[in-house]
Amino acid sequence: MRSRGVLPQGREGETLDPADWDALKQSFHAAIDQAIDRLRDSREAPVWRPTPDAVKARLEAPLPRRPEALDAVLQRFAADILPFGTGNVHPRFFGWVHGAGNVAGALGEALAALMNCNVGGRDHVAVYVERQIVDWCKAIFSFPAASSGLLTSGTSMGNVIALASARSARAEIDVRRHGMGASPRPLVGYASSEAHSSVAKAFELLGFGRDALRRVPVDAEFRLSLPDLARLIAADRAEGRLPVAVVASAGTVNTGAIDDIAGIAALCRKEGLWLHIDGAFGGLAVLVPEFAPRLAAIAEADSIAFDFHKWLQVPYDSGGVLVKDERAHRAAFADRPDYLAPAKRGLAGGEPWFCEYGPELSRGFRALKVWFTIMTHGIDRLAAVIARNCRQAERLGQSVCAARELELLAPVSLNIVCFRFVAQGLDESALDRLNEAIVVELQLAGIAAPSTTKIRGRTAIRVALTNHRTSDDDLVLLVSAVREIGRELSSVSAGGSPSLVAAEEP
Ligand SMILES: Cc1ncc(COP(=O)(O)O)c(C=O)c1O
Repeated sequence: MRSRGVLPQGREGETLDPADWDALKQSFHAAIDQAIDRLRDSREAPVWRPTPDAVKARLEAPLPRRPEALDAVLQRFAADILPFGTGNVHPRFFGWVHGAGNVAGALGEALAALMNCNVGGRDHVAVYVERQIVDWCKAIFSFPAASSGLLTSGTSMGNVIALASARSARAEIDVRRHGMGASPRPLVGYASSEAHSSVAKAFELLGFGRDALRRVPVDAEFRLSLPDLARLIAADRAEGRLPVAVVASAGTVNTGAIDDIAGIAALCRKEGLWLHIDGAFGGLAVLVPEFAPRLAAIAEADSIAFDFHKWLQVPYDSGGVLVKDERAHRAAFADRPDYLAPAKRGLAGGEPWFCEYGPELSRGFRALKVWFTIMTHGIDRLAAVIARNCRQAERLGQSVCAARELELLAPVSLNIVCFRFVAQGLDESALDRLNEAIVVELQLAGIAAPSTTKIRGRTAIRVALTNHRTSDDDLVLLVSAVREIGRELSSVSAGGSPSLVAAEEP
């Protein structure tokens, strides 16, 4: 049965448009109202709710052959999908490195879908909006106007694109034509042992192989050790390999450490290596005066990948990459077969096309949600969120140090706090299990959503602050919940009752 006859359109099967556009608008408005109300009230709801088994079962339904009215589909959405998101719109979501999004950006996403532009190239306004965003990013990172760039799904893809440009620019052969196997010397690159896994994946995808990414040891503050980098480069040269690139982290994923970018840039210059910055979240701290001096040397890099969907609060997915040498960037990807031939006039104009700077031909209008976000909030306000999150991290680190049962596991350098609950009498592996259990309990109870990581082999409760909705009180609540749950779980464990801290059955 159809409700209100909104979809499908009246003359059966002719197009996919509705018969009654006014009714369609009402459905749209009602759906948007519902989603915005949920966002508005997110503080009152649990941070995260597991997707119920019944919903999972409904989401395994076979391929529908027949149409269903839009309003009926919206009812399913409201019941089965809307309540069970990742939780990162909630003020107490602190896991991994998730941005919280913003409504202006969400409107941009919705409007981009209605325009349905393909931003692979050609001459239309979406191309100019994306160029505008790329130019703003050049201004943020002090890259020259002649550099190139594009929006990506995230930093993982940005790292691939930048390292593909480095590979083409530094290889001794035409790798696009002959493949890496034809290189007289194996190509190698460098990143710290704390660098994100997407860097190693990029090395795999580009045919370097994972082992060609040399993992450089870190110092006491988790920053890449420059003497070790110099030593590894020299050893590779001596053994007949071709060092091509160094990836410096502007904010490591585990602890937020910022590598000595100026020192690495100087070494790269001396050695003739391409310097790429993984600035996924921390790169944007260059907007905050307190952090700008440590990040200013990004301007000396050959490329940088970064995310809008993390600390700029643009809805997923949206990242970007800049490459200083436009010719090297284009040489890594450009290919214009007859059916994509450029034109001086008409829709096939608009040179250069974005598809010449990355692997994708069809590309969505991601830039619109970035444009809406930056236009409506202004970059100063977005930078103030970054600054506030860093102050919150610093204060959280201080509360952890002041609390008897809590132990800080890494210095707080930016916006990430790694700590653990310590109960007397538990050995290291029981402490690991206890802290894993605390995080799971916090998530299941809907109180907060930190994640875990290992810091020098110990399980840490990891709080990453990239959330414009988080208040200082949310962090007070987190600390008291960790202590309460930690005491509860460790006392159950000490009493010998079945415990969450007990070793898992093999
Ligand atoms: C330092 C760092 N690099 C790269 C990435 C990957 O970014 P994305 O998830 O946007 O692909 C992340 C993600 O958290 C990160 O923290």
